[in-house]
Amino acid sequence: MFKAVIRGIGSYVPDQVLTNADLEQMVDTSDEWIVSRTGIRERRIAPPDMATSDLGYFAAKEAIANAGLTPADIDMLIVATSTPDHQFPPVACLLQERLGCRTIPAYDLSATCIGFLSALETAEQFIQTGKLQHILIVGADTLSRITDYTDRTTCILFSDGAGAFVLSRDDSATPQAETGIRYTATHADGTYFPSLYVPAGGSRHPQPNDQAEKAKIVMEGRKIFRLAVTSMTEAAKQALHATRMSLDEIDWVIPHQANQRIIDAVAEHLEVPAEKMISTVADFGNNSAATIPLAMHTAIKEGRIKRGDTLMLLAFGGGLVWGCVVLTY
Ligand code: UT7
Repeated sequence: MFKAVIRGIGSYVPDQVLTNADLEQMVDTSDEWIVSRTGIRERRIAPPDMATSDLGYFAAKEAIANAGLTPADIDMLIVATSTPDHQFPPVACLLQERLGCRTIPAYDLSATCIGFLSALETAEQFIQTGKLQHILIVGADTLSRITDYTDRTTCILFSDGAGAFVLSRDDSATPQAETGIRYTATHADGTYFPSLYVPAGGSRHPQPNDQAEKAKIVMEGRKIFRLAVTSMTEAAKQALHATRMSLDEIDWVIPHQANQRIIDAVAEHLEVPAEKMISTVADFGNNSAATIPLAMHTAIKEGRIKRGDTLMLLAFGGGLVWGCVVLTY
């Protein structure tokens, strides 16, 4: 068994900013309502000529450079996304070509907002067994393309962005070493699928037929809020139990960036001080598979997260899916 460590990280958000003041012009809402109920002040939106692979490309390029590697060193590429450029090919194939990687395995993984954690969990297996050495994992979403900008209960939340890791095999670390990926667990319960989904655009309703079958996100906000808090809290407790770690040993918690009130509620349930919770939701909103690597990279650039720190990554999303990863950076 080999240890998988994070060798490089990158992220990217488009330049265009959608502010709460902009949304006030589009739907019946107010900056005061959005800030008090979600903590979000602005979000980034991709211009019409940019798609998910474009966002992912810039994040991936930065992660490879940050790892001190070249695209030729990458042995596998996994992209977590719910908003691929096309039904097929996978975004990962577009990135393989554009980055100039060898003809490595490259595929997409669809697990909504926990997609990046699922990709980490998957990639870790290939490294643990010794089969591969460097795996590029990208979380990228262009949620603006599936957001209904006439629905004030959803359009205030969603955004576009990307984040990426290079996960590498550390041949010098023992399997027990307190470094790299230390715990992963992901879960799914499909009974909750109607609470957060996109009715059309897939094989059931390929073309939107009427208002009920739009290719846009529909959501039972209050229900998802409750499920988010309980699932992430439970995932964190299970992780602490399984790793026999205490919260004192966790330097930072990086939750999925959906709503500041969800982040605060998880912190309260776990009794984690607010200073340990990484939050970028005010500036970037919810860009699904990108939120966790984007929040982590932002905190690294701000000098908050440092090499050697131990992090707990927590996520939930439409499915319902939820999960936790503990790692030492
Ligand atoms: O990756 C996962 C993605 N999804 C989530 O994480 C969503 C989780 N849920 C949430 O973040 C929150 O439930 C929302 C932000 C969606 C809504 O906040 P809330 O505090 O749960 O509000 P609510 O749904 O209970 O609605 C309260 C009131 C309602 O009016 P009435 O029925 O009390 O008259 C809504 O119609 O607020 C109204 N409302 C708004 N008012 C102004 C809903 N959206 C807006 C809005 N501006 N944008």
